Amino acid sequence: MEFSIKGGDLSKLKTDCVVVGVFDSKKLSTAATALDKASKGAIMAAVSSGDISGKCGSTLILQAVPGITAKRVLLMGYGNDKEYNNKIFVASLSAAFKALKKCAATDVTIPLNTKHASADIAWKVEQAAICAIDGAYRFNQMKSKADNKHIGKAVTFHLDGKANEKALYAAIKRGEAIGEGMNLTKDLGNMPPNIATPAYLASTAKDLAKTYKFKCTILEKKDMEKLGMNTLLSVSKGSYLPPKFIVLEHNGGKKGAAPVVLVGKGITFDTGGISIKPSAEMDEMKYDMQGAGSMLGAMKTVGMMKLPLNVVMLVPTCENMPGGNATRPGDIVKSMAGHTIEILNTDAEGRLILCDALTYAERFKPAVVVDAATLTGAMVIALGHITTGIFANDDKLAAELVNAGVVANDAAWHLPMSDEYDALLKSNFADIPNISGGRAGGSITAACFLGRFTKSYKWAHMDIAGTAWKSGADKGATGRPVPLLANFLFKRAGI
Ligand code: BES
Ligand code: MN
Ligand code: ZN
Repeated sequence: MEFSIKGGDLSKLKTDCVVVGVFDSKKLSTAATALDKASKGAIMAAVSSGDISGKCGSTLILQAVPGITAKRVLLMGYGNDKEYNNKIFVASLSAAFKALKKCAATDVTIPLNTKHASADIAWKVEQAAICAIDGAYRFNQMKSKADNKHIGKAVTFHLDGKANEKALYAAIKRGEAIGEGMNLTKDLGNMPPNIATPAYLASTAKDLAKTYKFKCTILEKKDMEKLGMNTLLSVSKGSYLPPKFIVLEHNGGKKGAAPVVLVGKGITFDTGGISIKPSAEMDEMKYDMQGAGSMLGAMKTVGMMKLPLNVVMLVPTCENMPGGNATRPGDIVKSMAGHTIEILNTDAEGRLILCDALTYAERFKPAVVVDAATLTGAMVIALGHITTGIFANDDKLAAELVNAGVVANDAAWHLPMSDEYDALLKSNFADIPNISGGRAGGSITAACFLGRFTKSYKWAHMDIAGTAWKSGADKGATGRPVPLLANFLFKRAGI
């Protein structure tokens, strides 16, 4: 995707499509007003016709509007003019890019009102770049005939006055890095589980290392055995595919400065193991590696930005399958940290692979550790598909992540993990069980299990079971929480 910034007369643009906002009160945005004047009322006439409600999400494409050179005008609803804000701009733009999917326009112009605060304009530009890249995304690697029709190729931001262009180009660069990071995450999540195996994730990490000069280390099964990563190994036992433990290191910060350590759950397919899941929608459990997928995507963003920060990524990855050698409910294994764990349910496998990774994280003497995992179905019940759940042993770190989510337009919410929940982790036969407390508060008790392995550093856990994936007609990976992670890392890097 090509991005550029231009000025000049809005009615004399050479573009396939210019995108302007209209309110549900039939009031026109500044850009729509300019086009309305040039076209002697054609925009207002379209709005008055009732073909567009003006509600946020509504769109209408006009062809060959008289008096202006753009081939099309896409009207997007801004909703109530008293409630209009930056977030509504992004939501309407995202609907606009959806509408563009069905239209043959490949280059698009987005007017910006330079009378708005410059920080707001930069934010809008960054978000618009993400929307454009996201809107152009297709997953057709597996289709014999790829449908690449109507994929946007260029976006021009049109300025109606003076603006800090340098800041806007920097915003475009951030948006591109986030959008491309998200697209990698989506590809990994959408890829079928016979292809997106632990070895595939390892080779993706190697490719990133080559492109962005990261250090890449892949620990094999024998290495994990030596390290005593028995809880991780216990999950992989039922599968023919060997587990991998992926380490990526980006040394962009000061030499020796404590790194941010990112950890992602990489279950490439979760059948539940011997505690097998119901078969309906089990295909979707290919996205049980989206913790890993989003960390790999975030590393792509880090690489594209050459981020001045030390970042380490850890991905424990394997498949959770039933089989003659699979772990049984009742088995007791010893974690790398030395705790004995009674595996009461083999479907609570995410925490088992994460706990050894969280112990491994200690050797990097991290500034903070942040993990992302499609950890619990209970998370989908609690926050739905809108908001990521955040759990932490440090309130400041949780607030930092929630705030990064606000800036990134990638919502997250801090949930509690007080001692009463932790106290439920009781086993008659081992130090701790892998499930506790029944179904009630399932996301919290899962977080408390992880919390047992993160005592020596500041840590936050993001349960992305609801936000990493969409079911239904639009089934597929969302690329979340890459925007949140990216903004968190940008701020830490001071950019
Ligand atoms: N990968 C699942 C969680 C999940 C469920 C993610 C639905 C996305 C959508 C996880 O490994 C799991 O199976 N968790 C169990 C835990 C239970 C056995 C305590 C669950 O949520 O049912
Ligand atoms: Mn499971
Ligand atoms: Zn799982």
